[in-house]
Amino acid sequence: MVMACSALPGGARAVARCDALGGPPYSDMEGGLYRAYLTPAHGAALAALTDWMSQAGMTVRLDPAANLIGRYEGRDPHAPALLIGSHIDSVRDAGRYDGPLGILLGIEAVDALHRAGRQMPFPIEVIAFGDEEGSRFPAAMLTSRAVAGTLDPAALDVADGDGVTLAEALAAFDHQADAYLAARRPASSTLAYLEAHIEQGPVLEARGLAVGTVTGIAAQLRLSAMVMGQANHAGTTTMALRRDAMTGAAQMMLAIETIAREDASDLVATVGRVEALPGAANVIPGEVRFTIDIRSGDATRRDRAAQAILVALEAIASARGLTLTMEQVHDLPASPCDRALMALMDDALVATGQPPFRLVSGAGHDAMVMASLCPTAMLFIRCRGGISHNPAEQVEPADVEIAHRAMLGFIDRLGETFVAA
Ligand code: GLV
Ligand code: MN
Ligand code: MN
Repeated sequence: MVMACSALPGGARAVARCDALGGPPYSDMEGGLYRAYLTPAHGAALAALTDWMSQAGMTVRLDPAANLIGRYEGRDPHAPALLIGSHIDSVRDAGRYDGPLGILLGIEAVDALHRAGRQMPFPIEVIAFGDEEGSRFPAAMLTSRAVAGTLDPAALDVADGDGVTLAEALAAFDHQADAYLAARRPASSTLAYLEAHIEQGPVLEARGLAVGTVTGIAAQLRLSAMVMGQANHAGTTTMALRRDAMTGAAQMMLAIETIAREDASDLVATVGRVEALPGAANVIPGEVRFTIDIRSGDATRRDRAAQAILVALEAIASARGLTLTMEQVHDLPASPCDRALMALMDDALVATGQPPFRLVSGAGHDAMVMASLCPTAMLFIRCRGGISHNPAEQVEPADVEIAHRAMLGFIDRLGETFVAA
């Protein structure tokens, strides 16, 4: 269970707590970390976070979308709150820091204020979002979209790979599906959103920097493709007579890669998940489903690539006698961080002895959804080799300590501007 790490400094304790959450009972898979939304591992992780939030002086509640929220009162309880958070869910066979580190650093920030007997002019709420990765249901950032009020109720009509609907998963978590949208926060209750996250890329390491201020997050489009051919006997159906959904899908995937490579900008396109049916060695696949994730800092460029991909895939399907169905899973616009908050973060970095450095995020974050509710700020922390979405994900406690101090400096500066306002 959770190790005792109360004697560690804030940054090191945040890392140790992420490590403690990296195995059973906080994972749904044997021998690795997979913590999906509304699973027993999610529940166990929320129990640990509840303890840590309570010890840091917060009152804790679970909102209707199963986001865990710890609140630390400010001098004016009616003032809009500073939200600090990230996600507690993970990809399959994940690293330990993508998501939890931002939550744990929020808890450390509040803990430092609490131990010093300090209150800010505004309340602080630390939020552990339940679904950012979209690793269980065919939808992502469900829970921050619920909080920001941008969730289309139709998005709730989803089922996981085992056919368990979101409503059933919520019921198993003692939650009512029909209250989900009540997680929405009024904009008037929210001052700003701050998220610390490992960089998940190589830029900070290449520059020899521990931390950096994020300028914005690339636009994302996620699609799901279904290719239908004809399942048939692998021994008797001649090559000329096949309508093989798998070889058609393979050709489509290469076309996606070619279109993204030829763009030669920041545009990236990924097929990350493939499912072939019926999935037997002696049957020609009759149905293949795969995901397509397309990103760029420039939404027009991203959409142009998506259109080119659609045209290419349709041409491949038609040449092979296959049927192609494409469905949009989500469309998130590029999301710039708030300029004034970036300046506060730069100042806070300088005060910790770091050079100010700004970088863009190719990875998606809850901050890009929260930007429709309030001004957002993000702090990136160097990760070893730029590796993420992989058990080899690693951060240095010393870097996280710098991030911890920078976050406290940011909160102080926000307090000063808030009083002046
Ligand atoms: C989340 O990690 C994403 O960038 O998809
Ligand atoms: Mn991730
Ligand atoms: Mn993340």
